[in-house]
Amino acid sequence: MEFILDTINLEEIRDGVDHMPIVGITSNPSIVKKTSPKDFFGHMRQVREIIGMSRCLHVQIVATKAEDMIAEAHTIFKEIDDQVYIKVPTSYEGVKAMKALKAEGANVTATAVYTTMQAYMALEAGADYLAPYFNRIANLGGDPVALISNVAKRIEEGHYDCKILAASFHALSQVEEALNAGSQAVTAPYGILKTVFANPNIDKAVNDFNSDWYDVYGQDTSIC
Ligand code: E4P
Repeated sequence: MEFILDTINLEEIRDGVDHMPIVGITSNPSIVKKTSPKDFFGHMRQVREIIGMSRCLHVQIVATKAEDMIAEAHTIFKEIDDQVYIKVPTSYEGVKAMKALKAEGANVTATAVYTTMQAYMALEAGADYLAPYFNRIANLGGDPVALISNVAKRIEEGHYDCKILAASFHALSQVEEALNAGSQAVTAPYGILKTVFANPNIDKAVNDFNSDWYDVYGQDTSIC
């Protein structure tokens, strides 16, 4: 299981990586807009500095023609580093770009996946990750759970070297559904992942335990 943060906010990244088992960062142009860094590449280099090379960094291209997508990927490699996962929308042109980038040995994340057939195309194009848009699919009346479980089954049976990176979450329950359906990875906003711990029962349990400890050893004592 991989937990990835869907943000380029440096405070969220620092805090999230410090507290949770986060293995990477994803972004897209709308996520970039939320922070609107003046120097995009300078900012992304800062993100890389925080997360280090052992975590993955997924950066989305904006071109719509395969040749231009490939050129943007090369700029990303030059400006950030060549380990970045290039997020390519799973369009007709995007799949062409994915094949070319994989032939160069680049890391590729197929994004904007709304259908099982798009996922299968990305799989065969050699994508390392593919990102079905959970909430957007559900909003369109689709079934993201069925999509994820079909693709997960196909990946397992075909021994594909590809992970489902479920994305587009608007509630923690959706993240859990995606993982239970067979997603190997999920990318979610910082606020949604933190919701895991926003449970008053956790605080109550801790308070009750501490109160029993203090009854025995005195208020505000600790194990140290
Ligand atoms: C992944 O990075 C996706 O681009 C992102 O999760 C999409 O989320 P949204 O549907 O909330 O825009």
